Amino acid sequence: MKNIAVYFANFNPINLTQIEFLQMAKKEYSLDEINLIPLEQSRKEILNTISIKDKLKLCELAIKKLNYIKILENNTTENFNILKILKNLKEQNKDSNLFLIVWPYFLQYFVKLFDVEKVLEIAKIITISPFKIFNKLTEEFPNILIKPFELNLINSKKLRIMLALNKDCSEFLTKPMLKHIKENKLYYGKESLYLECYDICKKNTSFKRFAHCNFVSKAAEELAKQYNENTMDAKIAGLMHDVMKEKTKKYMLNIFKNHNFKLSRTEAINPKVWHGIAGAIYMEKILGIDIKNIINAVKYHTVPRKDMTTFEKIIFIADRISKDRIYKDVVFLRKLAKKNLDEAVIYSLKNTIGSLLKKEGTISTPTVECYNKLILNKKWRN
Ligand SMILES: [Fe+2]
Ligand SMILES: [Fe+2]
Repeated sequence: MKNIAVYFANFNPINLTQIEFLQMAKKEYSLDEINLIPLEQSRKEILNTISIKDKLKLCELAIKKLNYIKILENNTTENFNILKILKNLKEQNKDSNLFLIVWPYFLQYFVKLFDVEKVLEIAKIITISPFKIFNKLTEEFPNILIKPFELNLINSKKLRIMLALNKDCSEFLTKPMLKHIKENKLYYGKESLYLECYDICKKNTSFKRFAHCNFVSKAAEELAKQYNENTMDAKIAGLMHDVMKEKTKKYMLNIFKNHNFKLSRTEAINPKVWHGIAGAIYMEKILGIDIKNIINAVKYHTVPRKDMTTFEKIIFIADRISKDRIYKDVVFLRKLAKKNLDEAVIYSLKNTIGSLLKKEGTISTPTVECYNKLILNKKWRN
């Protein structure tokens, strides 16, 4: 009796750790044939995606020498019907055992999205899982066969970011796959990074906060154009500046702890400013976006530092003059920012420091240093 398996995924893009995963599944469950189903994604689901044609091509290149893997075509997430696919396969292979392979991290969504009982009538649901989540999974999903395995899986989002930043991806993609990606300009460049960040920001913020992030992104882009800074970097930094704004204190403290970041005393007693630092760590260490310009602008958008670069000043001000802002001086500050960026920062700092003085709040040393430096520069110029 043949053991036939089905494995569906977004494959955005398919990578070698997924192939390794399938090879292990084949071995563990004695599978004879694996049918891959790459799913087409709509731009509504995810902006940074590629066409089904390119997904199929990359799958084909990824499985080149593995003749037990076949590709099933023509599926979109909208009309995707796993029961129908399994039934068809059963029809064609009456004497075979059917298996549905599920990615371990997808199990929790899988059981919500699909009728597990109905699937189980036709096929066994199987997976292999990294040791660290194995016990949790077996408890949570008793009717799914799970075998532990040490896997070095790469998250597709991380891989897309690596491609966008032109990093070495040879560990995850074969040479022909990389060639196809490069020749067709898939995932490459800052535009792709922006799309990725757009989805990340949307996922991590409320509707209102996300709108604010987009307005800041737009304001930052305009200022960057005016002050000859990289407009794409400004768009990305503006978009991501508040990505951690709505996270709990505990969540942010965890990020600091995991990445050995020590808050200064003034920072520690003011959780309102934590999200800038947490955002910078999240982007650089967790997402792998190591563009210094962007990271520092996100980091210092809440508490400026003495030697603010023009780019950092742009994000700092864009956050205060974005279209969604309504406060007394905003129109004035918008005009000032267009005329003189330093004056706009001085004006904002005067407001911030003033209100902190009024309520007996602490003022961080770098903020005072930043203010002093700008004032001294101005006096020296005059
Ligand atoms: Fe902020
Ligand atoms: Fe903001």
